[in-house]
Amino acid sequence: MLANPDYTPEVAVATARYYDHVKNVIPAVEWPVHAPYIAAINALKKERNAVVLAHNYMTPEIYHCVADITGDSLALARRAAQTDADVIVMAGVHFMAETAKLLNPGKTVLIPDMRAGCSLAESITAADIRTLREKHPGVPVVTYVNTSAEVKAESDICCTSGNAVAIVESLGCDEVIFLPDEYLANYVAQQTDVRIITWKGHCEVHERFTPQELEDYRASYDDLTIIAHPECPPDVLAVADFVGSTAQMSRFVETRRPKRVLMVTECSMSDNVAADVTDVDFIRPCNLCPHMKRITLAKIYESLENLEPRVEIDPKVAEKARRAVERMLEHG
Ligand code: 13P
Ligand code: SF4
Repeated sequence: MLANPDYTPEVAVATARYYDHVKNVIPAVEWPVHAPYIAAINALKKERNAVVLAHNYMTPEIYHCVADITGDSLALARRAAQTDADVIVMAGVHFMAETAKLLNPGKTVLIPDMRAGCSLAESITAADIRTLREKHPGVPVVTYVNTSAEVKAESDICCTSGNAVAIVESLGCDEVIFLPDEYLANYVAQQTDVRIITWKGHCEVHERFTPQELEDYRASYDDLTIIAHPECPPDVLAVADFVGSTAQMSRFVETRRPKRVLMVTECSMSDNVAADVTDVDFIRPCNLCPHMKRITLAKIYESLENLEPRVEIDPKVAEKARRAVERMLEHG
C-alpha cells in the first residue's frame, strides 16, 4: 500500500495533464483514488530506472497515465527488446512478462500479479507439442506468443495475432502445426494456402461473443462498424467488417474514423482508444479478461517498490524459447 494515498493539491497538480487526457473515460469521482498512485509510480519509475509496458487491455489509468510503452503483444515484445531501462514492469499477463524476460535476461522483469495467466497459455504443455511432432514428423511448429516459455522452447517460431499469416508463410512449407488457438488458426487458414494443423485452445474472453449478439447490435444502431480480434469464433468473425490484432483494431479506428464502432475484444480496449479518439461513438459490450484485470495501480506501485514478483525462467528453457521469439522478431 502507498503510505499516503491522499489526493493532495501537489498530487492534483502533478497529475492534471493525465486527467485531462482520460476525462471522457474515467469519472471525476474516481480520479482522487487513482491520482496518488499515478504520481507515486511515475516518481518511483525514475528512481528505479524502470519502464512500464502496458498491453492494450489495461485500464485507462494504467494505459494512459503510468505506461511508457503501450501496444499489442507484438509491439510489447519488439519494444521490450530495445529498452535501456534496468527494470521492466509488465502491465499485462504472465506470458508477456516471460517474453520480455526472454529478450532481456540480464534485467529485472516484474509482473505485478503472478496469477495474471491466460486460458490459451493454460491449454497446452511442452509434452503436448512433443506428441504433436511425433504425429506429424517434419512439420514445423508455429506457436502463438500466448504460451509458456516451456511451450515456446519446443517450437520453431512464435507469432502474434498481428503477424500470424506472414510468419506461417515465411516458413515456405505446405503444412504447419499452429497452436494453441484453434480460432486464430482457422482465421490464418482462410488467408493462406498453407495447410494448418490446429489445437483446441480458446481465449475465454473472445469465445464468449456470439454472432447473434453482434447482429442484435447492428439492428439497434445505425452506421455501426464491427471490428473483431481473430481469437473470436469463426461465426463471429464472419459478422465483422474488419479483423485484426488489438493494435490493428486501434489503427483502424484512428485512421478510418467510423461514425460508430463496436470493438469485439476485451472491454478496456475501447476506453483506451476512446480517450484518444473523441469523435467516434463506441458501443461497448463488456467482456473483461479476469487475468488482465488482476493488474492494478496499487499492485504496480508495490512491485516497483519491492522489485517483486520477478519473472525467472530456467536458462536451458530460456535459450530455446528465446530462439523462437527472436526468429519471429527477425522476420520484421
Ligand atoms: P494482441 O497481440 O492482439 O494484443 O492480443 C493479445 C491477447 O491476449 C488477445 O487476447
Ligand atoms: Fe489470454 Fe484471452 Fe485474456 Fe488475452 S484476453 S490474456 S488471450 S485469456
